[in-house]
Amino acid sequence: MSRAGVPTTRSGSPRELVVKGAHVLDPSAGLDGVMDVRLEGGLVRELGDNLRGARELDASGLHLFPGFVDVHAHWRAPGHEHREDVESGSEAAAAGGFTGVVTMPNTDPVVDRPVVVEGLVRRIERESRVRAYVSAALHVGLAGERLTEMKLLREAGAFCVSDDGLGTQRASVLRSGMQYARAAGLPLILHCEDHSLATGVVHEGKHSALAGVPGTPASAEDVATAAGLILAAETGARVHITHVSTGMSAALVGFFKRLGFADVTADTTPHHLTLTDELVATLDGLFRVNPPLRPDADREAVRAALADGTFDFVATDHAPHAAHEKDLPLQEANPGFLGHETAFAALYTELVLPGKLPLARLVAAMSCAPGRWVGEGGSLAVGSVADLVLVDLSEQWTVGRETLKSKSENSPYRGRRLTGRVAGTIVGGEVVFGRQDTLESSGARFGVRA
Ligand code: DOR
Repeated sequence: MSRAGVPTTRSGSPRELVVKGAHVLDPSAGLDGVMDVRLEGGLVRELGDNLRGARELDASGLHLFPGFVDVHAHWRAPGHEHREDVESGSEAAAAGGFTGVVTMPNTDPVVDRPVVVEGLVRRIERESRVRAYVSAALHVGLAGERLTEMKLLREAGAFCVSDDGLGTQRASVLRSGMQYARAAGLPLILHCEDHSLATGVVHEGKHSALAGVPGTPASAEDVATAAGLILAAETGARVHITHVSTGMSAALVGFFKRLGFADVTADTTPHHLTLTDELVATLDGLFRVNPPLRPDADREAVRAALADGTFDFVATDHAPHAAHEKDLPLQEANPGFLGHETAFAALYTELVLPGKLPLARLVAAMSCAPGRWVGEGGSLAVGSVADLVLVDLSEQWTVGRETLKSKSENSPYRGRRLTGRVAGTIVGGEVVFGRQDTLESSGARFGVRA
């Protein structure tokens, strides 16, 4: 029996909760205004004015969106729990407003056998605060040679397969992988990177040259993106291209979507939407990430692709690394950034507040579209699962160790002041994260009626 897409959260109690007076925004359901929302039995039951319930959450002054869904995260279990684990990863997700997360398979052991999938699913059922969906590996050991047993992985509970972290170097392997995944009924999440070109540690350009740090050309991503799209079109597999970071790759995704014969979606990350490779000048290993931060022209192109719908989602690529793996020169540091806890605030601060992206488009890209992709969440329409995020759009805060629930602290926004902060997160009708200080300062509070 396949458990793909089955919620693996420990919440789901049927208790009634009425969230009162928040500004509800859900572009997928055409909701935009102050109203009350009744949650019961794990579902959204009623929207309206003056609703009363056995438990009430006064959320006046806050915004209420469908919970964010992150299709790309590394919770590091099994094997790298010094960086993150299911408990801390899901706490970080909940603190960032994420109610659903897809976990990546580049663990130790790699998630390439049914027994590993089953172990991880069980751990998620026991330890996760939010819904989590397991991505198994596309090939054994993520070595790019032998494909995994995808039907068995699906039966063990895998939701999708991915080559994330490394990519797939041989087009013939990728093509067969797509055919097998399609036959097994699994979507693929592709990390597009050609290792014959990706020989550096940062984006190849002015800043790599000035810093004397080896660069990787943008073509390392673009060549692989083109191959992935061509093979998706040929095989008819359901393919999601993750962390698209260049203008060329964005254009390629747009081209194939317009052709209409590939079942393709794509995302970009908060960091590629907000930061550039100018940070290479710091020489600080904190800023090493894969794909690398790009020049402003690429940042502008991915912003445009998100705004016009070429990219369906934002996904964080939450990639925790311990201090001893990041507090190093760029060449020696592990690539990766924390993402869950700053995603909304970084994008609200850098894109929505300056008028570069409508708030409704951000909610569609963080909640509605990825919720549809995982098959659950992403909507506040009556009958939807009661997965919600409450946000204080006026709160300003500074990112630091003390604000992070993650075990690691490799946030590229460390020390930055951001606007917009998650006040509460609800999964299956139960509060899994709440910042009482924010709830109180914005007038929101729990009240249990007699
Ligand atoms: O920067 C990255 N870190 N990119 C990846 O693709 C993998 C990730 C990791 O696992 O640390």
